[in-house]
Amino acid sequence: MRILLINGPNLNMLGRRDTALYGDKSLAEIESLVRKRADELGVEVVTFQSNSEGALIDFLQCEFGKADAIIVNPGALTHYGHSLREALADSALPVIEVHLSNIYAREEWRHKSVVAPIARGQIAGLGWRGYIAALEVLAAEKAPQ
Ligand code: DQA
Repeated sequence: MRILLINGPNLNMLGRRDTALYGDKSLAEIESLVRKRADELGVEVVTFQSNSEGALIDFLQCEFGKADAIIVNPGALTHYGHSLREALADSALPVIEVHLSNIYAREEWRHKSVVAPIARGQIAGLGWRGYIAALEVLAAEKAPQ
């Protein structure tokens, strides 16, 4: 099973960016924790981060037909990234949307996600462990019951 772990704008700054909201781990540290859990679960994780919506879409389109599921933290694109949402929908893959912070406990403009309606589910406010939870759900769903 090949799972894409995609992070959008500004998430390359994790560890230095508002640590009270986003935690003190860098994106590289989070990716390595997810990879460690993926190894235990016997699934492959491919990571990608970009500050550009176009680059995120280009990456997704290259993965059409190769990947089995997507874990995505679209950063602020969550709230207005219609092109990214369409590329995620076009992939026809199960998408789990992850947010480190609880977007519903923050400014009102963060309460709307344009990705949520096409997502299999959303995890918000659980910090880096949200990515692990998403991975575990996708791996469990794929495994024979
Ligand atoms: C975020 C929440 C977004 O509103 C924000 O723009 C981010 C990070 C989160 O992980 O909590 O960049 O997606």
